[in-house]
Amino acid sequence: MDNKVAIVTGAGRGIGLGIANKLAKELDMNIVIVDVDEVSMADAVNQIKSIGKEAIAVKCDVSKAADVQSMVAKAFEFGEVDLVVNNAGITRDSMLLKMSEADYDLVLNINLKGIFFICQAVCGRWVSAAKKLAEAAAPAPAGPDAKEVKMEPSFYPKKRIVNISSIVAKGGNIGQANYTASKAGVIAMTKTIAKEMARYNINANCIQPGFIKTPMTDKMPEKVIAKFVAEIPLQRMGLPEDIAGAVKFLSSKDSDYVTGITIEVAGGLNM
Ligand code: CAA
Repeated sequence: MDNKVAIVTGAGRGIGLGIANKLAKELDMNIVIVDVDEVSMADAVNQIKSIGKEAIAVKCDVSKAADVQSMVAKAFEFGEVDLVVNNAGITRDSMLLKMSEADYDLVLNINLKGIFFICQAVCGRWVSAAKKLAEAAAPAPAGPDAKEVKMEPSFYPKKRIVNISSIVAKGGNIGQANYTASKAGVIAMTKTIAKEMARYNINANCIQPGFIKTPMTDKMPEKVIAKFVAEIPLQRMGLPEDIAGAVKFLSSKDSDYVTGITIEVAGGLNM
């Protein structure tokens, strides 16, 4: 298999499915579809195959370290992983005074710790491979004082991480103490990963979607949706394809010199 591989989490439906389709169609990538729902994953795999690309479904609860280890191993067996899009996320909305500890933990574990597990596992593999390349190109002198061979970042093949945050991380959102904390954490963690991994030519960036028409926002009360739409300068909810376009930019050569940033794709909504 010649084409490069992208891991896309939460790719069974909604924004993740839109991203998977765009990467396959427009960046010629094969896709590892990661989700917890087997029915939607099977459908997503069929969609990718119908456009002539390879895809596999790997069931994985991103909040479980063992699941992530095994998913990442399968992805690297499937092909050369160049890109991870961490999109999997959930809401458990309730007002602060009613929010349970269980709902707080669940949202933080999936939306934030899940990204930590995946980035750690994937970057671990990318860095090991990079070190082997450097060692092969310029073997370090043997002995107890032997140091890691250091190369310029551009020596290593470009690898990319795109993490999906949310516009609500910017200004907070009524009913989402857990979710906003997780999504703000994603931005800070991504900036740190970008700084740590730049020496290995690994870029890490974030996208902040606004209110996007998906099964997640379909659960919102009508009057809350109406209130937000009234505040969006472009006067509509976003679509998964709107987010996929920004992911495509951050996944392509055009963004080789872009790392540690966040792109808002929110129709101008200013939280
Ligand atoms: N703005 C202003 N007032 C609001 C409000 C809002 N966004 N949300 C709730 N309120 C008000 C209600 O009008 C109500 O006021 P009154 O007491 O004066 O009637 C009060 O706050 C309590 O609200 P509810 O009666 O709805 O309380 P509840 O406990 O039944 O439900 C809730 C609370 C679960 C948070 C519910 O309001 C809700 O689901 N809100 C939507 C939360 C939301 O915006 N989620 C975004 C999901 S999409 C997403 O997360 C994707 C992304 O990245 C953007």
